[in-house]
Amino acid sequence: MKMMVLLLGLIAIIAFGISLVIGRQSPHLLVSNCQSCHLASNEITPKNAYMLLNSQEVLCASCHPNAIKASHPSGFSPNRELPDIYQLNWENKLTCSTCHDIHSDKQGLMVTNRKGKAFCHDCHQASFFDNMKDLGTSLFISGHTVAQNEPFGEKIDSFSAKCIECHSNESGNLAITLTNNNSISHSNGRVSHPIGRDYNEAAKYGGYRPIKSIDKRINLPEGKVSCISCHKAYAKVHGEGVFAGASQYKLCNSCHDI
Ligand code: HEC
Ligand code: HEC
Ligand code: HEC
Ligand code: HEC
Ligand code: HEC
Ligand code: HEC
Ligand code: HEC
Repeated sequence: MKMMVLLLGLIAIIAFGISLVIGRQSPHLLVSNCQSCHLASNEITPKNAYMLLNSQEVLCASCHPNAIKASHPSGFSPNRELPDIYQLNWENKLTCSTCHDIHSDKQGLMVTNRKGKAFCHDCHQASFFDNMKDLGTSLFISGHTVAQNEPFGEKIDSFSAKCIECHSNESGNLAITLTNNNSISHSNGRVSHPIGRDYNEAAKYGGYRPIKSIDKRINLPEGKVSCISCHKAYAKVHGEGVFAGASQYKLCNSCHDI
């Protein structure tokens, strides 16, 4: 009897192991047919694989919409040399596949094993980050503030949740205060504002511009007012306003219409 239990246990462990191995198969080969991205109708080879149905920013964002918000810039031609492992696409653009190995089976699908700061330093000088108010800490973790589409909760969006991890009531002088009804007060008596409110719901009562006409630099993740509606989240200047340098009126007036 004891042997039987042991044997069953062993089988369960092996099955779990196999499921882990299968589970780590490249996710993109499991979810779609090849022609949802590739142009080649016959064999897809490393030679013709670069011909895609659309830009990666469009193809990939259909399943990972957050990965193009508050993220590392993608889909542009860098005006400097990058290390060889980081391949540009046929138009010489830095794109998703510059950093990601789309068909890899490794966690994160990265083209390199380097992580965090060391990864970022492959292409950037240390001074690039030393000039940031947070010394780059909020960015080193990933190429994205939030890549996966996981709503943080009922109340606020996942991007604001990331900011609040550091800017919470307890943590130092540039903290923000979040009231029970999700109004934030900035410290130093600066502007107070609700976050987590559904923009379209609010707009129904009048006094707001139609969501479609709002400047694209203003993000409304999950349709909600967020820290990243007013602040850039992945930029050279940490915490910079979305209209860097422009008047506060321009910012407020982009949504409010009274
Ligand atoms: C979600 C979009 C997507 C799907 C689905 C997809 N691919 Fe790809 N694939 C890419 C991208 C992007 C690249 C990199 C292109 C480049 O280098 O410019 C690529 C590269 C490749 C390459 C060359 C480099 C490498 O990683 O081996 C091959 C071969 C390939 N794909 C085969 C396939 C096959 C076979 C399928 C279907 C089983 C498939 N792909 C499905 C997006 C996709
Ligand atoms: C048809 C939907 C779909 C498309 C299109 C798609 N992905 Fe994914 N992607 C998935 C799924 C499903 C997973 C695995 C589950 C997860 O991690 O969310 C995944 C996982 C990932 C991961 C993380 C893997 C990990 O180990 O954490 C990266 C990075 C990624 N995709 C990048 C891309 C890029 C770049 C493109 C465009 C070339 C792309 N995806 C296109 C569905 C898609
Ligand atoms: C400058 C490099 C860089 C570029 C460009 C880039 N990424 Fe990423 N991405 C990363 C890093 C770093 C991670 C974190 C990987 C890890 O978990 O180790 C990541 C993670 C992800 C994840 C999943 C894991 C998570 O954090 O939730 C997805 C999905 C993803 N990227 C999609 C994309 C798509 C789509 C594009 C193109 C629009 C893109 N990435 C462009 C660096 C980049
Ligand atoms: C493959 C090379 C490469 C890697 C790896 C890379 N970057 Fe970049 N990054 C660039 C290029 C090119 C630019 C455009 C500006 C420039 O040339 O410096 C850029 C721009 C930026 C910007 C400016 C965005 C803006 O619009 O103001 C930030 C912030 C940034 N990177 C952060 C990071 C962080 C953090 C990492 C690591 C998670 C990282 N980068 C990894 C190549 C890279
Ligand atoms: C890893 C921790 C961390 C995260 C995450 C973070 N910050 Fe910060 N932030 C800091 C630090 C540290 C400072 C500098 C504080 C000081 O000077 O006393 C700062 C400063 C700022 C400033 C003031 C900039 C200035 O020039 O005075 C703004 C605005 C800001 N952050 C907004 C944000 C927003 C918006 C987010 C989310 C997208 C965010 N931060 C996420 C750590 C963080
Ligand atoms: C409605 C627009 C708006 C929203 C939403 C918003 N901010 Fe601000 N934030 C501002 C403005 C405007 C300033 C003032 C800039 C100035 O005076 O130079 C500011 C200043 C800051 C500062 C620095 C000044 C200080 O006294 O604290 C931090 C830190 C900051 N915001 C963090 C956040 C965080 C974190 C969130 C999300 C929880 C957020 N902000 C949401 C508009 C906004
Ligand atoms: C991203 C769009 C957006 C921007 C930018 C924005 N607001 Fe708002 N604001 C809203 C929404 C939506 C509400 C309604 C929230 C609710 O009560 O449901 C609101 C509510 C308010 C309220 C509370 C009004 C009330 O009746 O509850 C004040 C005050 C306010 N905003 C001032 C400002 C100021 C000042 C700025 C510029 C610093 C600004 N807003 C920028 C979208 C925005």
